[in-house]
Amino acid sequence: METNAPKRRDNKKSLRVKVISLGNAEVGKSCIIKRYCEKRFVPKYLATIGIDYGVTKVQVRDREIKVNIFDMAGHPFFYEVRNEFYKDSQGVLLVYDVGLRESFDALDSWLGEMKQEMGSQANMDSIVFIVCANKVDLTKRRVVDEGEGRLWAESRGFTYFETSAQSGEGINEMFQAFFSTITDMCENGGKRPVAEVNVGFTKEQADTVRRIRNSKDSWDMLGVKPGATREEVNKAYRKLAVLLHPDKCVAPGSEDAFKAVVNARTSLLKNIK
Ligand code: GTP
Ligand code: MG
Repeated sequence: METNAPKRRDNKKSLRVKVISLGNAEVGKSCIIKRYCEKRFVPKYLATIGIDYGVTKVQVRDREIKVNIFDMAGHPFFYEVRNEFYKDSQGVLLVYDVGLRESFDALDSWLGEMKQEMGSQANMDSIVFIVCANKVDLTKRRVVDEGEGRLWAESRGFTYFETSAQSGEGINEMFQAFFSTITDMCENGGKRPVAEVNVGFTKEQADTVRRIRNSKDSWDMLGVKPGATREEVNKAYRKLAVLLHPDKCVAPGSEDAFKAVVNARTSLLKNIK
């Protein structure tokens, strides 16, 4: 499979890379980039029309990196404009608004759109993904907590940052990590550094914690049909208990998920003859 090998300029120490921003409309993609490049924040919403393009130069260790930033419009209306720009990216900023759950839930479909548009060239292992949980300054309206966001990101081998384009929190740290991981990847022959992926828990564990958090009732939590028998409930419980037991699972939120599963089983068994 092809890698998204960056274009080298004559000087061996300089690199040219392409990064894109992805996420629902109004989550703050353009403001994050503006905060980093121009050190300012614009409170008024100016929707990106299709795509914005900019270039910035950064220094990582002894290398000068010329970064081409393609800031995508999040609105579905601009799909036809966006879809041309996914190819040949070395880095992706995946942004959601911590006050809007649907913008967090949409991250999977953004990855889906990207994979689809990259087609046969899609080699997601040679792209660095950073997840920005943005607008953390608006603490009162926050609905997606850090554990949930971190879990989604790290279970996929992506780095998670809490950011605020408004206050600047996390922005420089996030971009520094982004560009230095991209540089590491380029020096590693176009493969994302493995250390980023090794988080000590499996994707199945992470996905199960997430499913449990979002389940609508005890049946749903245990993954059995309403009206299931004692045996079915116990069987489902045992499987989840092995997967999520705090001695075995270090995924963020697994302890709470484990307790929730214990409680769900207790309450279901009370009502099953
Ligand atoms: P599209 O271009 O339509 O895809 O949106 P976008 O993701 O680029 O959003 P944009 O950066 O334009 O920001 C949307 C709105 O959110 C604007 O009104 C910003 O001022 C506001 N905003 C962005 N980031 C933050 C933040 O960290 N905190 C707060 N309080 N507001 C923010
Ligand atoms: Mg924008």
